[in-house]
Amino acid sequence: MTFHEWITHNPGGKKRVIVTKCLPGAAWLEALAGAGCRVDVCDWDETLSRDEITRAIGERCDGAIGQLTERWDAALLGVLKGAGGRAYGNYAVGYDNVDVDAATALGIAVGNTPGVLTETTAELAVALTFAAARRVVESSRFLTEGRFTGWLPSLFLGERLWRETLGVVGAGRIGTMYARMLVEGFKMDLVYYDRHVNDQLEAFVREYGAFLAGRGEEAVKCRRAASLEELLREADVVSLHATLDESTSHLIDATRLAQMKKNAILVNSSRGALIDEQALVEHCRRHPTFHAALDVFEHEPWLTPGLVDLPNIVGLPHLGSATRWTREAMATLAASNVVAVLNGWPVWTSPDVLPFLAPEPPNAAPSIVNPAALGSISAT
Ligand code: DGY
Repeated sequence: MTFHEWITHNPGGKKRVIVTKCLPGAAWLEALAGAGCRVDVCDWDETLSRDEITRAIGERCDGAIGQLTERWDAALLGVLKGAGGRAYGNYAVGYDNVDVDAATALGIAVGNTPGVLTETTAELAVALTFAAARRVVESSRFLTEGRFTGWLPSLFLGERLWRETLGVVGAGRIGTMYARMLVEGFKMDLVYYDRHVNDQLEAFVREYGAFLAGRGEEAVKCRRAASLEELLREADVVSLHATLDESTSHLIDATRLAQMKKNAILVNSSRGALIDEQALVEHCRRHPTFHAALDVFEHEPWLTPGLVDLPNIVGLPHLGSATRWTREAMATLAASNVVAVLNGWPVWTSPDVLPFLAPEPPNAAPSIVNPAALGSISAT
């Protein structure tokens, strides 16, 4: 076992919370210390092993704030419970790394951080879309490697997205915001695929279409696809915003890739395992006009061989939420979730979590994914 440096804040605190990575900003630490917590923060960039987290939990730990790179399974949650833990805050909106059922059974409330990543992640998905469409990375490398010898009529031809068809898979907060950005900005028609009808998104596109028509411009259109296959066949850009679970793992496999247009653009800023990467590598090899833009990877940080060698795949190191504002806000929400559970406060019911970033935040937990666990805590 390796021992890494842990920094203790507010050593006299009556409760103890561990935080497995240094988080940006100061508000999160102030919230925890202000709630009477001693806070032990790991000052190490590598992903902590289960043993290292277990050791950090020690004999007494009321709460933990962890990362999407750590597997908070039943065994680790059991260790937290054994040390008196009642709250686990995931420093992410996604929580596929947490065994929520096990946490609920143990009476550990699991928090996440929705509502502050929406625009930031959608913006990155837009950046990825255009990076792929206009071959930005490939052509920039060409330039910086000194291979640009003059303007040419056919140098790095890409795809025009103006008024083409956008396919959004998963019309939750981020998918909706991304769709709005591309519909408004580039007048793309929208096809979305989601278990639920998104009335607000449909109304937005309808009203925006009417606005354009009122100006003598062609209206934009929106349709909910009856099947994923239908969306894949029609869309020029397919952007994935679904959550990862057993039903969505390898949602995009060889068969589905074959259903897409030969010059389509596939964007993934959600979770890597939505795509069968081996199939993607083979597809991109066979279809040089097909482009993929990925912020997340199936086995990240390990990359499927061939993936980043292909000129038609653009990759980023999981940066969807990486703006200063969002990462600081995520830290505040993660800490607020833990503080609220330890103080026995209720769960916030509005999707608007911005009041938690204000100087006098509500006495509530911004987002608990298993509020049933709170019932089992108060019952003990
Ligand atoms: C999340 O919060 O789930 C994101 O993937 C982090 O960028």
